[in-house]
Amino acid sequence: MSEDFLPIKGMDHVEFYVGNAKQAAHYYRTGFGFANTAYSGLETGNRETASYVMSQGNIRLVLTTALGPDSPIARHCYLHGDGVGVIAMQVDDAASAYAESTHRGATGAIPPTAVEDEYGVLRYSAIRCYGDTIIKFVDRSDYNGPFAPGYTARNGVEVAGNGRYKGVGLASIDHMVGNVELGAMDRWVDFFAQTMGFSQLLHFDDKDISTEYSALMSKVMQNGNGKIKFPINEPAEGKKKSQIQEYLDFYYGPGVQHVALTTGNIIETVTQLQANGIDFLRVPTNYYDVLEDRVGKIDEPIDKLAELGILVDRDEEGYLLQIFTKPVEDRPTVFYEIIERHGSRGFGKGNFQALFEALEQEQALRGNL
Ligand code: FE2
Repeated sequence: MSEDFLPIKGMDHVEFYVGNAKQAAHYYRTGFGFANTAYSGLETGNRETASYVMSQGNIRLVLTTALGPDSPIARHCYLHGDGVGVIAMQVDDAASAYAESTHRGATGAIPPTAVEDEYGVLRYSAIRCYGDTIIKFVDRSDYNGPFAPGYTARNGVEVAGNGRYKGVGLASIDHMVGNVELGAMDRWVDFFAQTMGFSQLLHFDDKDISTEYSALMSKVMQNGNGKIKFPINEPAEGKKKSQIQEYLDFYYGPGVQHVALTTGNIIETVTQLQANGIDFLRVPTNYYDVLEDRVGKIDEPIDKLAELGILVDRDEEGYLLQIFTKPVEDRPTVFYEIIERHGSRGFGKGNFQALFEALEQEQALRGNL
């Protein structure tokens, strides 16, 4: 198909539904270096929810909590724990995105809507994605307010309280991974292909993922201009319980497994994150003994990567550096990846075995193996 019927300009934001947005905002600020740039809640006339927009580089996370038990957001938290409720992308025409996707079989979640305040008109719509996740189409072309009507600007410096705001160098969202039930991966591959015009990344097919090591199957879907990448995992039969199944058991259904955030200097970023108390998965140290044989020459000192636990992978296009946090809530569900790309557009399949071993240890500690 030559014409992209659903042109997407890029990610707009990712909205988490959380049990306590005020405390989550503190964690994302002191842990991950985000600044609170906008707020909606009782003080702004919002009687239903409280939302904190957390910004760093081009990344915007929105942390939303319900102010009462009858809200669908309260229900989402009750069922799933803290998790991603909304994946929002920027488009030029939210009504067209809705019409084109629902016409092709997507289920509508929010019909085309326009909300207005003194900063202009914000237009959006949404369709249903896996589990209780929705995909939102946001058109900001006629809006220049802090975030959306109902929000007030918040100065990250003021909220930080120490007179200084400093991020950790996180720049953009690289990809977002969804976990779906056994047997459902191809249905969601078809969903992204048929209703949103995404295509499957060809260099990353079933055979690339060794299910013996990772006990998962994965396919990567990307949009027409390649800016949006959504890998989709399903559990695979392995010797032990799949980490995807562990997620599904504790999230009570499909949902976003991890969000990968880019940095231009992973050594500095991870040094800062670790100093801030963020916990990362650690692979066995012998990983680094054979690293240079596996990936060849890289710019970064290997002893420094080993000290921080940063992983490396290489393909025909270049290399990448990556590291994964432990789950960021008590349920073993959502986590983050920090990634720095040097040409490689892959996802680090060469690290699956080492990661699987590290994950198995964590699963065993949780009694979930
Ligand atoms: Fe990833």
